[in-house]
Amino acid sequence: LVRYAHEPDLAAAEFREVLVSSGLGDRRPVDDPARLEEMLHGAQLIVTARAGGVLVGVARAVTDFAYCCYLSDLAVRRERQRKGVGRRLVHEVRRLSGERCVLLLAAAPDAEAYYPRIGMLPLPSAWMFPRLR
Ligand SMILES: CC(C)(COP(=O)(O)OP(=O)(O)OC[C@H]1O[C@@H](n2cnc3c(N)ncnc32)[C@H](O)[C@@H]1OP(=O)(O)O)[C@@H](O)C(=O)NCCC(=O)NCCS
Repeated sequence: LVRYAHEPDLAAAEFREVLVSSGLGDRRPVDDPARLEEMLHGAQLIVTARAGGVLVGVARAVTDFAYCCYLSDLAVRRERQRKGVGRRLVHEVRRLSGERCVLLLAAAPDAEAYYPRIGMLPLPSAWMFPRLR
């Protein structure tokens, strides 16, 4: 049984562990614990998936709960992938941010084919300034 919850106080070490075990750790600052703490403190939504207490997935989003929601990190531990955990985490982020919000994200290369599978629409007019570090 996988349980889903909003955990605003998720420990940075647990967050790091699920990033690494999902594969997303290659693209996140997992060697900078202070920055991971800042990422957690600054997020309004930290949705977790736990099986027997063990963290198996996480979704971290920044939102105003009124108009927009940016889903920055979605990660599911490798051995738990493709069992519906990611889909449910995204559903929980949408439910908690509210139906007035657009949900935006930037897909990692390996996950580009994933988001249409869960019903998301492409946004051809997306633009960004990259991080400088
Ligand atoms: C991408 C990820 C979050 C998906 O979560 P998940 O729990 O494995 O996926 P789900 O079980 O919700 O998958 C839903 C559907 O998408 C499909 N799917 C899953 N991962 C996919 C992928 N990488 N590419 C294409 N389709 C994928 C599933 O087969 C499933 O199909 P179905 O509805 O026909 O059964 C997860 O695999 C992961 O953590 N990957 C590594 C990190 C990463 O790339 N994160 C995204 C950063 S933008």
